[in-house]
Amino acid sequence: MMVEFLLPRNSRVVKGKHFAAPARARNVKTLKVYRWDPDKDDNPRLDSFEVDLDDCGAMVLDALIKIKDETDPTLTFRRSCREGVCGSCAMNIDGVNTLACIKRIEEIKGEVKVYPLPHMEVVKDLVPDLEGAYAQYASIEPWLQTETPAPEGRERLQSTEERERLDGLWECILCFCCSTACPSYWWNGDRFLGPAILLQAYRWIADSRDEATTKRLDALEDPFRLYRCHTIMNCTNTCPKGLNPAKAIAEIKKLISTRR
Ligand code: SF4
Ligand code: SF4
Ligand code: FES
Repeated sequence: MMVEFLLPRNSRVVKGKHFAAPARARNVKTLKVYRWDPDKDDNPRLDSFEVDLDDCGAMVLDALIKIKDETDPTLTFRRSCREGVCGSCAMNIDGVNTLACIKRIEEIKGEVKVYPLPHMEVVKDLVPDLEGAYAQYASIEPWLQTETPAPEGRERLQSTEERERLDGLWECILCFCCSTACPSYWWNGDRFLGPAILLQAYRWIADSRDEATTKRLDALEDPFRLYRCHTIMNCTNTCPKGLNPAKAIAEIKKLISTRR
């Protein structure tokens, strides 16, 4: 017997409104942008906005800000630093999770498709609900934990080599591009911590000053929290900061297996 899977009627993305560029525009690019308003009973829709690139900054975020300023003030998205350091503007652009503020429009052929990060609840338009992800972040206790007192009158020092072990980890801006590209996180995001949080967990495990390594590894040694990672590598391929969460996860697994 064939089993049919039907999506709920209102989960289908329908065609939305079209906003034409001014008649004088000579260098027009169309952005197709996902829209969903929790206060209305409508299906999500894909609005299409024509933007004059001769009168717009170079990045996808510039185009979104221009649309919000000049065409549709209800368009909702997060952004803050606009230079790739705050992680707020993470979204799915042209099929890839990335930061809108450092994604150049000219790199994209044809229409620019802009969706929220995949497989997360949507708060509105391009804003994903990150509450669960932040709760997972809190669960790894992301701060320095020590038992021995700090040396009299000065900070806890690290050698150059010890400090270098944090490279590739401290740069993570918690944008969640990686976790929302991970199939294991899509299906088990309530129990699997996902690559962003596991990289952060490893950031504290790898810190020579931290004295809670045993407790941290105990908390991670769990079929769901850690071992749902099957090394599919989507996370590393998508990280807009060029980091390697899959490697951090592999390091945690190695530490757990060698301490037995
Ligand atoms: S390597 Fe692990 S964490 Fe990264 S995408 Fe694959 S399953 Fe997810
Ligand atoms: S590892 Fe990269 S993609 Fe993942 S949260 Fe950190 S900066 Fe974002
Ligand atoms: S606005 Fe801060 S990373 Fe894009």
